[in-house]
Amino acid sequence: MTKNGTSPDSQLMEKIVSLSKRRGFVFQSSEIYGGLNGAWDYGPMGTELLKNIKEAWWKEMTYRSDIEGIDAAILMHPRVWEASGHVENFTDPMVDCRECKARFRADQIEDSMCGNSGYKGRKASKCMAEGKFTEARKFNLMFKTFIGPVEESTNAVFLRPETAQGIFVNFLNVQSASRQKIPFGIAQIGKAFRNEINTKNFLFRTREFEQMEMQFFVKPGTDEKWFEYWREQRMQWFIGLGMQKEKLNWHRHETDKLAHYAKDAYDIEYEFPFGWGEIEGIHNRTDYDLSRHEQFSGKSLKYFDEATKEKYTPYIIETSAGASRSFMAFLVNAYSEEEAPTADGKTEIRTVLKFHPKLAPMKAAVFPLVNRDGMPEIARRIEQDLRPHIRVFYDDSGAVGRRYRRQDEIGTPFCVTIDSQTLADKTVTVRYRDSMAQERIADDRLLSYLMDKINGK
Ligand code: GAP
Repeated sequence: MTKNGTSPDSQLMEKIVSLSKRRGFVFQSSEIYGGLNGAWDYGPMGTELLKNIKEAWWKEMTYRSDIEGIDAAILMHPRVWEASGHVENFTDPMVDCRECKARFRADQIEDSMCGNSGYKGRKASKCMAEGKFTEARKFNLMFKTFIGPVEESTNAVFLRPETAQGIFVNFLNVQSASRQKIPFGIAQIGKAFRNEINTKNFLFRTREFEQMEMQFFVKPGTDEKWFEYWREQRMQWFIGLGMQKEKLNWHRHETDKLAHYAKDAYDIEYEFPFGWGEIEGIHNRTDYDLSRHEQFSGKSLKYFDEATKEKYTPYIIETSAGASRSFMAFLVNAYSEEEAPTADGKTEIRTVLKFHPKLAPMKAAVFPLVNRDGMPEIARRIEQDLRPHIRVFYDDSGAVGRRYRRQDEIGTPFCVTIDSQTLADKTVTVRYRDSMAQERIADDRLLSYLMDKINGK
């Protein structure tokens, strides 16, 4: 504990949330109205980072011959959610405090604090022990809305709580349109909504978030092999994008805790400042989803294998990542504070976001060392040359050391400085964010040099 009673980890989380706001990664939704619980807005840097994460996932998953991409509607026929089991099973147990009216998930009382501001620091479990809570009752997490002007139950629809169902119901459409043969997959990125009882930990548990889901359709009997394959692939994806291995962990769901559809399930967990938390689930969903949609729609969703003349309901291996949660994990993973020398020979603490160059929201910054001797003109030309290819920032204000620090804070991997030597030999200095080492590069090679670095060549 520190002097003001906060733990070092909660301080770290506060620093990350504050940097996120200051540098334009994440803002509270509707902030000027006091914010909306469980909803966040991505600022200029955050939008770019999120887009880069989704693009890296999309390329990884769909730039291969056996996976197709789709973009299904958020609103779906209400029967979908009966078939999926969400109407019946997508519930959390909820209790209310009779005294302060706070609402808690009955299975998370241990982690919760009393809602009465007069009892600062009091655990909710104490209130429960004193008998202040109502009996637990089931609360469905789906957001309900109505199609058309009349708010009647017959017009009720739900905002999708997962993107997966849009894939299941399109299984045969995609298979026949793309002439895929089993095994093959369908991938999708999109918004999902859950009316979480308690939102918490910044982007970790929100009511509106984005998922990156892929459903891989396989022949029954080959499912366990594909399950292992996809477990390995998905872990490597996070590591390949710079996640520290020791911060990643597998959590296998115990048999009695498996979701109603799953035969086996593992979570990839990341060690956040507040503890380990799931960022992606890999599930063996068996033939549950297609069988249920067959039953509820009355339409066959069986696959016919031309080669063997067999007809069967495929098993599904699902990889289900949160884009928003991955964003938060990549942000936390990148955050670092370290000692760095200042121009006058002292040291200072620099805050640096060590994103993989592929994910970095700003790829390069261009600085004229001084605003004279033709340096700004060369720097502007270099900026214009780079701009169609990568996001680049031009900065000519303040000492160059300050400019480096500003870029470190948003994780810009390369800073390009135009100095007096540039005037003599047409080379520029490239300074690396992580090592702070500098190298001279011919300015006509700069673009291809940076592109190779960004693409990991
Ligand atoms: N189709 C399966 C499915 O949706 P899930 O474990 O409920 O499985 C998958 O969700 C992923 O979606 C999680 O690993 C997490 O990254 C993300 N996720 C789920 N609920 C979330 C929430 N309330 N806020 C942010 N991300 C969430």
